[in-house]
Amino acid sequence: MSVAKKEYKRITVKTLVDMKANGEKISMLTAYDYTMAKIVDGAGIDVILVGDSASNVMAGHETTLPITLDQMIYHASSVVRAAHRSLVVVDLPFGSYQSDPKEALRSAIRIMKESGGHSVKLEGGKEVKESIKRILNAGIPVMGHLGLTPQSIYKFGTYTVRAKEEQEAEQLLEDAKMLERIGCFAIVLEKIPAELAKQVAESVSIPIIGIGAGPHVDGQVLVLHDMLGMTHEFNPRFLRRYLSMYDEMTTAISQYVDDVKSQDFPNESEQY
Ligand code: KIV
Repeated sequence: MSVAKKEYKRITVKTLVDMKANGEKISMLTAYDYTMAKIVDGAGIDVILVGDSASNVMAGHETTLPITLDQMIYHASSVVRAAHRSLVVVDLPFGSYQSDPKEALRSAIRIMKESGGHSVKLEGGKEVKESIKRILNAGIPVMGHLGLTPQSIYKFGTYTVRAKEEQEAEQLLEDAKMLERIGCFAIVLEKIPAELAKQVAESVSIPIIGIGAGPHVDGQVLVLHDMLGMTHEFNPRFLRRYLSMYDEMTTAISQYVDDVKSQDFPNESEQY
């Protein structure tokens, strides 16, 4: 079903907060390079996340941990050159903000200065509170990320649903309220029960963007390569695939191989 889209010249962090206040859902997708970001921006996405999932889908690592700050800046600067309407949020990678608030600020400043991104995202609640405050004090907008936080995968041991137990759910709700209180402009909630996500979204006035967090939140985010069906081994319940690009690209590339081998390509009109 096609829904009437409101026209915005440029999405800002304030636009997102207004969208929540007006009951307008927020659309967010990842992108890591210029060509894809141009398509995503042109299609009307509100927020482009230069996610550290680049570590998985672009670099082929098993986890998000290996990607470096320099690599994130490279991806983000390519995306920023393509994004004329969307707000660009850039992930602070593992190891660039956990050790102390000064390092967190230095990393966030490098992202803003060297990539031209519009804001940063980082994972965690009370344990990264001081780092977030330091970044916010420098005038850099921060998006939080709670629930399944992939940079902590070795602590969790599994990518299963988080906060099913009461204690973890209560801590998550407290963390979300704290993130709002100190000034974050939005929060990603990843892979938590839909009822808990609803409770969080109703408890704060900043937008809650869900991935595997059900429908009662203020917006949704997916990894671009997953929703386009370019990846085909990753099949979580929350993922809706809009294309089967893995299959379609394989067919196209096989056809090209056949055409080269059979000398069908190039033909008369494809030469000088
Ligand atoms: O890195 C990423 O793509 C993310 C999304 C899954 C929210 O953080």
